[in-house]
Amino acid sequence: MIWYADMKLAKYLANLGYGSRREVTAMLNAGRVARADGTRLADGGPFAHADVRVDGEPLDPPPGVVIVLHKPVGYVCSTTDTNPLVYDLLPRRFRKRSPVIAPVGRLDRDTSGLLVLTDSGQTNHRLTSPKSGIAKVYEARLASNLRGDEAESFASGTLMLNGEALPLAPVALEVLDARRVRVTLREGRYHQVRRMFAAVGNHVEALHRSAIGAIDLGDLPKGAWRVLGDAEVAALQISRRDPT
Ligand code: URA
Repeated sequence: MIWYADMKLAKYLANLGYGSRREVTAMLNAGRVARADGTRLADGGPFAHADVRVDGEPLDPPPGVVIVLHKPVGYVCSTTDTNPLVYDLLPRRFRKRSPVIAPVGRLDRDTSGLLVLTDSGQTNHRLTSPKSGIAKVYEARLASNLRGDEAESFASGTLMLNGEALPLAPVALEVLDARRVRVTLREGRYHQVRRMFAAVGNHVEALHRSAIGAIDLGDLPKGAWRVLGDAEVAALQISRRDPT
């Protein structure tokens, strides 16, 4: 149980997106915030996250939340765009939290699959830093048949992407059929998978991320999300899914 002794409950609820400080104070004054046993909570004294109810409902996940979302094609990882946003798939309150819940890396608009979001800067950094070497697994459908030399080229550590100064770190390629592949990479360069196939004269028609480290999408339906448990977060942060 996470206890808070020093933080005001109104500030805590406002940070979780329940309203402005003034709105949340009004909710407290109106008796809408209570303990699990029904006794009313005021804006002072210690409280435990798991024991607080707003209008009888348990609170949203505490700070440090890590969310897994099955992003459909057409949604963008941005806060402002004319396209639908990945945030539109989450509860409205999640968008008003402080610190903000931000995507870990990005999937482009036309890519589907596993997107992790978190309000933890530390978790975000660990998952995106090339130093942590966490594997990201993608399945791609290609416009043309494979030539046969792609796996060697991707694994070489010498492949250059258009406009970049440094070669790509080795990427593992698994052939599923003549036009379908699984790639496992540990960097996260801009549009990396699409640009890698462009570099070998092909074109990615459809792209889907199925796993990051030890976390895979499983049977999470398109557009659905779930909060990772503590053990899953720990596994995600240390996991290296070895492709080679
Ligand atoms: N590589 C891409 O080309 N697009 C993505 O969204 C992710 C990796």
